[in-house]
Amino acid sequence: MIVLSPRLKTAADMVHKGVVAADIGTDHAYLPSYLVLSGICPRALACDLRKGPLENAAETLERWNIADKITLRLSDGLDELSAGEADDIIMAGMGGILIAKLLERTEWVKNKNIRLILQPMSHTEEVRLFLCNNGFDIIEERTCRDDGRIYSVICAEYSGKVEAFPQGYEFYGKLDPNDDIARKLVERQHKRLKIRASSLREANFKLDEAEYCEKACLGMESFLNGGEK
Ligand SMILES: C[S@@+](CC[C@H](N)C(=O)[O-])C[C@H]1O[C@@H](n2cnc3c(N)ncnc32)[C@H](O)[C@@H]1O
Repeated sequence: MIVLSPRLKTAADMVHKGVVAADIGTDHAYLPSYLVLSGICPRALACDLRKGPLENAAETLERWNIADKITLRLSDGLDELSAGEADDIIMAGMGGILIAKLLERTEWVKNKNIRLILQPMSHTEEVRLFLCNNGFDIIEERTCRDDGRIYSVICAEYSGKVEAFPQGYEFYGKLDPNDDIARKLVERQHKRLKIRASSLREANFKLDEAEYCEKACLGMESFLNGGEK
């Protein structure tokens, strides 16, 4: 059986049993292969921008004899997929800015029957902002440690409602303030923004950004104080 890294396993655990999953930026197709081999998904799509990763993916499918259950597709983001082809869409191991950009140009993901499972390597706040500003609800976030780094995985669904969110929400979303890893992620962001705000204030430069950072820090403080620690 394929053994996934903790980061990919956390994303795989969020996929609903019985759905068709599409893994965007699949590289070796470990994630969709695991989903099929473990019986979570009857079928899956493994998509990548480049041919090289899809060749890696083809080797994985051949090794595990699952080429009939997983469709390989050369695709920039979701561009070569169409509505109805997948229920759960996974984007893992890419930057948050890219993830948000790929989702933004794909109108058909705004569908109540589609779930997004997103694991950004950076700029997670851009993903949360995209979701909140485009009618997606963040349903759940899970965290994990992997190879000395910590990650969060976001699960979101489209509701069509764009509602105001608390200040700083983009930096904590649905993380659990009682989860040590989540707290660490938020504490790091808090420290980064605090330093940024005070250096902007000192230089009397970009005061709008300084104010944004300060407000976000206040939001993160109330998130952290909401925990039991
Ligand atoms: C770091 S690997 C991540 C592989 C796997 N998803 C994981 O999390 O371990 C990133 C993959 O995303 C692919 N990628 C980058 N930009 C992409 C895009 N616009 N559309 C689809 N795939 C893309 C790359 O070719 C590469 O195979």
